[in-house]
Amino acid sequence: MVEREIRTVYRRSAMAEAPGRILILIKPDAVQRHLTGEILRRIDAKGYDLIALRREIATPEILQRHYAEHVDKPFYPSIVEYMTSGPLVAVVARGHRVVEGLRSLIGPTDPTTAPPGTIRGDLGRDWGTDAIENLIHGSDSDESAEREIAIWFPELAE
Ligand code: RTP
Ligand code: MG
Repeated sequence: MVEREIRTVYRRSAMAEAPGRILILIKPDAVQRHLTGEILRRIDAKGYDLIALRREIATPEILQRHYAEHVDKPFYPSIVEYMTSGPLVAVVARGHRVVEGLRSLIGPTDPTTAPPGTIRGDLGRDWGTDAIENLIHGSDSDESAEREIAIWFPELAE
């Protein structure tokens, strides 16, 4: 009985976690619609730690680094227009398997067909804009997460 209690406590402690990290952007459409709190609530309630947060207006330079894989695509100028249309909130979250957990919570790119229950499925829709406005970005792998954290939070780079 005592042994079981000790194991339970250990499992819940920070020491039991091999901590992963992810870079989240609460995009300008979400900030403008006052969904920042609702989105952070969902991430927090799932159990991840919100370890850094900053509201800012993105520059074309930072977006060029962040979206390096998309800079040559035809829709890239509309992404820049969208992502600089107002302030965004950059966040670092931490927890075991956080990239997998948040990609699942965020849902697929297109908010029209993103499943109900996901952030994009519940809160987003198509407004007929050139860039798909979908409320939130989450890094798609551990490697991307560390690359993106170094861009948005250089003080947290490993
Ligand atoms: P994100 O990187 O922002 O988390 O989104 P994602 O992985 O689901 O989508 P990705 O393919 O990486 O695209 C980056 C963002 O660019 C905009 N987009 N517009 N008009 C279009 O066809 C188009 N495709 C992508 C979206 O805002 C998307 O999230
Ligand atoms: Mg992406």
